[in-house]
Amino acid sequence: MKKYLVLALALAFVAPAMAAIEPGDGHDLASRLNTPMNQVCVPCHTPHAAPYYTDGPLWNHQPTTGDPFTGHDGPLTLSGSSRLCMGCHDGVTALSNYGGVESNSDALGAVPSNIGWAPGAASNARILADDHPVSVPYEGHLADETTTIFARNQPIENFLEDGNVECATCHSAHSASPERGLASSGRGAYLIVTIENSELCRKCHLF
Ligand code: HEC
Ligand code: HEC
Ligand code: HEC
Ligand code: HEC
Repeated sequence: MKKYLVLALALAFVAPAMAAIEPGDGHDLASRLNTPMNQVCVPCHTPHAAPYYTDGPLWNHQPTTGDPFTGHDGPLTLSGSSRLCMGCHDGVTALSNYGGVESNSDALGAVPSNIGWAPGAASNARILADDHPVSVPYEGHLADETTTIFARNQPIENFLEDGNVECATCHSAHSASPERGLASSGRGAYLIVTIENSELCRKCHLF
């Protein structure tokens, strides 16, 4: 019995650090999309017959249709979680394209936090040359990926996807803790490690 009480107390302290999607978060899309029975997960995941299950975990939202983007070294075709995130943040693919819908009925301006936009360019410009590199291998003058401790006491390599840096290397889609960094909306930026003192950057870049 005592063991379970200790476990329950431990979880009570752990839970806030692993904060989930809260009402009013950017990723609380239930009211915005008027999902059946106020479902918060369904714009991204569905338990059965997920149309894009080969692209991501029970993935229910159309991945980006913006490929190829303008990357740092020319045309860039996205891989891993970056394809999933950019299904809503590319400024091209519609927010409402989930559950097999690919009609692009609200294609432009649907997601204000549009990462495919660049200063001076159109909102659907699909430019990633002005953003931190993604879909690139973790190599160069960086911290040792096997020994450096990252979030949740895990090494950096656990956050790489097929050895690449992707959106979900720095972000989690689920935990918008404001103390980890703010988006321009003033809400949390879903970072896996705090941006205070540039800690996130210093985990990999040894400056
Ligand atoms: C189903 C669509 C969808 C997907 C997939 C998605 N997002 Fe979002 N995201 C949104 C919307 C909508 C907002 C709110 C934008 C706004 O209102 O400014 C948002 C907001 C954000 C914000 C800013 C926080 C805020 O509330 O202003 C971050 C950071 C973010 N998303 C990162 C990601 C990352 C990283 C991924 C992939 C791991 C991802 N998103 C996948 C739709 C999506
Ligand atoms: C805005 C999109 C979005 C929403 C909403 C969302 N997820 Fe996710 N989820 C993702 C993305 C992207 C990934 C894969 C990348 C990652 O692990 O961060 C993922 C991964 C997962 C995984 C696999 C984690 C792993 O470690 O393999 C589970 C389980 C999951 N989500 C459950 C949920 C549940 C339950 C909800 C609703 C409470 C939810 N998600 C809501 C985008 C979302
Ligand atoms: C190297 C780490 C890193 C990578 C990789 C990364 N981001 Fe970010 N992202 C950040 C940081 C840091 C912030 C800003 C947090 C702050 O300033 O407090 C941010 C902010 C954001 C915002 C909020 C913008 C705003 O101000 O409204 C969105 C949306 C977002 N990222 C999406 C993405 C997407 C989509 C990808 C993949 C294409 C991605 N990020 C890749 C680190 C990263
Ligand atoms: C998960 C590890 C990781 C994190 C965290 C990370 N970076 Fe990087 N960064 C890389 C990799 C990999 C590259 C591409 C290879 C290289 O240029 O060394 C890169 C490249 C860069 C570049 C060069 C881009 C160019 O145009 O050539 C800059 C600048 C940079 N990162 C800044 C940052 C900043 C600022 C942060 C924090 C917001 C950050 N990085 C967080 C891994 C990371």
